[in-house]
Amino acid sequence: MIFNYNKYSINPNKLIHLSGLKRGSILDFGCGKGVLESKKIDFKNINKIVLYDKKKKLIKFLTKKYEKKKFKIYFSLKSILKKERCNIVFFSSVVQYISKAKLKKLVQQLSKNKHIDSIIFSDVPYLPRIFEFVFLPLINLNRFIFVLKILFSKKYIKLNYYKYSKKDFNIFKKDFDVKFYKNLHDLKLMRYSVVLKKN
Ligand SMILES: C[S@@+](CC[C@H](N)C(=O)[O-])C[C@H]1O[C@@H](n2cnc3c(N)ncnc32)[C@H](O)[C@@H]1O
Repeated sequence: MIFNYNKYSINPNKLIHLSGLKRGSILDFGCGKGVLESKKIDFKNINKIVLYDKKKKLIKFLTKKYEKKKFKIYFSLKSILKKERCNIVFFSSVVQYISKAKLKKLVQQLSKNKHIDSIIFSDVPYLPRIFEFVFLPLINLNRFIFVLKILFSKKYIKLNYYKYSKKDFNIFKKDFDVKFYKNLHDLKLMRYSVVLKKN
């Protein structure tokens, strides 16, 4: 299912800042329709942005949205890890669709890549979905309406959803320094961001 909350964008320079690097390349993992704001990018700090999603249907939309040469679009993680030197991997509103066991394997796979320095997770939910749903209209009406529109579709109902407590990130402490931040997205009270930085 392809969806994202299109009203929100993130300045990629924020990710460079959070990673502590001066300059780097970013892999937007599970990019969907793309949350990184292409117009605000300062390419003095960013070498390139690699967009990756498992949904090949996105190709038309993404090629239209991200015209610049410095964006690369992939639908195979293996190819990215082979061909591209990415320093930061950014998961924006993605971990809730990945089981804890799968995320552990994925982070292990990413950490083996010598170029990857930081992994940033944003929009990580820690509350039960129903709780978020009840409070969402009070916090962000636009996002509530967006969720309402897709809520009753079969694909959405079938989608597995996982919440993550901060403790769930303890398993990465062996290989990474783990730091928690305010959510980069709009739901500051209900969700958070995490930065894993290679030891
Ligand atoms: C809620 S959307 C978020 C899209 C975008 N990152 C954003 O912040 O607006 C979740 C996206 O993650 C992608 N996704 C989920 N699991 C994935 C996986 N294991 N590998 C690649 N993409 C994945 C989905 O296809 C979907 O486009």
